Amino acid sequence: MKTVLACLAGFLSVIRAQDSWCGKAYQAGAPEIIPGGWLYAPDTSSTPRLDLRVSPRHSIYVSSEEAGQVIIDAGLSYFTGAPQEGTPPGSSGIQPRWDGDGILNVTVKIKCRTVAVGTIAIDTTGNLFDVQFDELTPRFESYPVKVTATGPDGTTYSASTSLFYLPEKNTGSVVKIDYLYGSLLYRNNFTNGEFSYVFPYGFYGNYDGYFRVHENIVAYSNRGFSGLHPVTSFVDSDMSSQIDTMDAQNLLWQYDMRGSFKNLTSVAEQVPLVKDHPSLLTWYTGDEPDGWEDPLNSTQLAYDLLAEMDKYHPVALVLNCQNYYFRDYSAGADIVMEDAYPVGINATFSFHGTPCNLTYGDCGCDNCHGSLIDVPDRVDAFRAYQSWIGGQASRKPIWAVPQSFSDTTYWRRDPTPEEVWAMDILAFNHGAKARFAWIYPASDIINDAASKIAKVVTVSPVMEFLTQANPVLLRGASQTSPIDVAYWSHEDTVLVGVANARNVTVSSIEIELPSDGWEVVATPWGDVTWHTNGNTLVAEGLFPAFGTSLILLK
Ligand SMILES: *[C@@H]1O[C@H](CO)[C@@H](O)[C@H](O)[C@H]1NC(C)=O
Ligand SMILES: *[C@@H]1O[C@H](CO)[C@@H](O)[C@H](O)[C@H]1NC(C)=O
Ligand SMILES: *[C@@H]1O[C@H](CO)[C@@H](O)[C@H](O)[C@H]1NC(C)=O
Ligand SMILES: *[C@@H]1O[C@H](CO)[C@@H](O)[C@H](O)[C@H]1NC(C)=O
Ligand SMILES: *[C@@H]1O[C@H](CO)[C@@H](O)[C@H](O)[C@H]1NC(C)=O
Ligand SMILES: *[C@@H]1O[C@H](CO)[C@@H](O)[C@H](O)[C@H]1NC(C)=O
Ligand SMILES: *[C@@H]1O[C@H](CO)[C@@H](O)[C@H](O)[C@H]1NC(C)=O
Repeated sequence: MKTVLACLAGFLSVIRAQDSWCGKAYQAGAPEIIPGGWLYAPDTSSTPRLDLRVSPRHSIYVSSEEAGQVIIDAGLSYFTGAPQEGTPPGSSGIQPRWDGDGILNVTVKIKCRTVAVGTIAIDTTGNLFDVQFDELTPRFESYPVKVTATGPDGTTYSASTSLFYLPEKNTGSVVKIDYLYGSLLYRNNFTNGEFSYVFPYGFYGNYDGYFRVHENIVAYSNRGFSGLHPVTSFVDSDMSSQIDTMDAQNLLWQYDMRGSFKNLTSVAEQVPLVKDHPSLLTWYTGDEPDGWEDPLNSTQLAYDLLAEMDKYHPVALVLNCQNYYFRDYSAGADIVMEDAYPVGINATFSFHGTPCNLTYGDCGCDNCHGSLIDVPDRVDAFRAYQSWIGGQASRKPIWAVPQSFSDTTYWRRDPTPEEVWAMDILAFNHGAKARFAWIYPASDIINDAASKIAKVVTVSPVMEFLTQANPVLLRGASQTSPIDVAYWSHEDTVLVGVANARNVTVSSIEIELPSDGWEVVATPWGDVTWHTNGNTLVAEGLFPAFGTSLILLK
């Protein structure tokens, strides 16, 4: 259908509706525009401050749940105040480190009633407190949660959040964020009434040319992909029978309102058509609203309406710029996606005939180097902005949109299978909790490559690590050191993710583990063989260019 094709073309096209992109002029001869909206780290002080934060463990609870948890962080921070917005270039954040100690006495109150008391150590995060819901009435309005913490010197700190305890929902899916790990839990008629973790792995999908056909939806699901993002909405087409197929397949999908999210009348018309489907995963509003320079309040306005009409599913959007009004655009989302596409680009000179730098030009990947490292760098950047913004934003999941295409404009070649896998592991190592690549069907080579790794990361044992642990980065890839390593601990096992971000063979890799006594029990992904030697994990032989491994240790 024309409208859908127009949407697809719009995403990739060189023909942009406005004169600027990410706040920058991009056409040859256009006068330079200095973009605003650059987020800087908050001011810092030389002494650390207690950064008390509280978050519900889950973004929502429903009335069939009798208890939940809150997460209390008592980290130390050198930041004072909120991040500043200005013009590039930006300063980098300071990573707070302080070896202080001390115990805080903590009280958690919901609606002024004490629901939990306990102690936590200063300089710890992710402390969990159980909360019973027996005194709460299910309702759509949130409940205020307040935490007070008294320090060794008698100083009292406080933090607050909101907790949703919603009426039970008996139709379709209920999806929530586990804020401890940034992962998703869903419940529908396939999960026996239980909330189950899911690691969404799949693609955006060309609806018009491909996913309109039911057999293709089934075939895609059978290839091991756990999620789909059809690029269409009811505004473009009646997609009800295709949704029925996704429901029957338990193929969880993201509902895309890229063309209509700024029209709240239209959003209000679409929500009832979608919200009660068992395979609905998430809402999706702005598709690169920062690149398009949509009104700064547009994502928040759509978010507020969606939250009012359907609080049972999170809202996602993708941001395309490195750092352009991130605070405003991301405010309208529970999940922030990044789509840095570095493969086959010229990162310094655009085919529009301009150089690309912090204040000028569009090379298809904003402020990128044209290296796979652009992907984890973007995930890290978004994570840093979220921590500067603070509060609930510091626990918002980040998802990756890897490149699975090429064209005749910015992206002159497809990623190779090795690059597909490397971009995935790099994103996961840096904390991405789902991946929807642009766009399916890609080449057969890419489809096959993605299917191969989907069958590993969406199922046990790897999925438990990706959804029920946070990665700890041991080594970040850089231009001089291409190997990227992170590990996830879950119960008494550890998963190590290794990716080579560059086109160089590495002759020996030795990874120092945080503790001793680990044995390699399996290598769920990759052809390299590994063994341990004391507290060191050793690759046997060469580690190939763009190579990847997932190693299970016990
Ligand atoms: C913390 O609670 C314990 C036990 O109730 C009490 O002995 C201690 O004085 C409290 N500490 C502070 C700083 O309030
Ligand atoms: C769940 O519901 C959908 C339709 O609402 C149906 O197609 C599917 O077969 C059901 N699945 C199970 C396991 O009952
Ligand atoms: C907004 O959506 C409504 C409902 O679909 C439609 O009638 C109206 O024309 C749309 N407005 C614009 C400006 O597109
Ligand atoms: C949203 O921002 C636009 C300016 O971009 C303004 O005209 C409009 O009134 C704002 N809407 C609301 C509801 O604040
Ligand atoms: C980018 O384009 C410029 C100008 O055509 C050229 O000099 C440069 O070598 C190109 N760089 C890459 C990495 O292709
Ligand atoms: C970016 O390139 C433009 C156009 O050549 C130039 O005017 C500007 O000074 C450059 N900006 C930076 C930060 O290098
Ligand atoms: C990696 O380097 C080899 C040898 O120089 C080259 O043939 C190959 O095309 C490069 N691969 C990529 C993906 O750049």
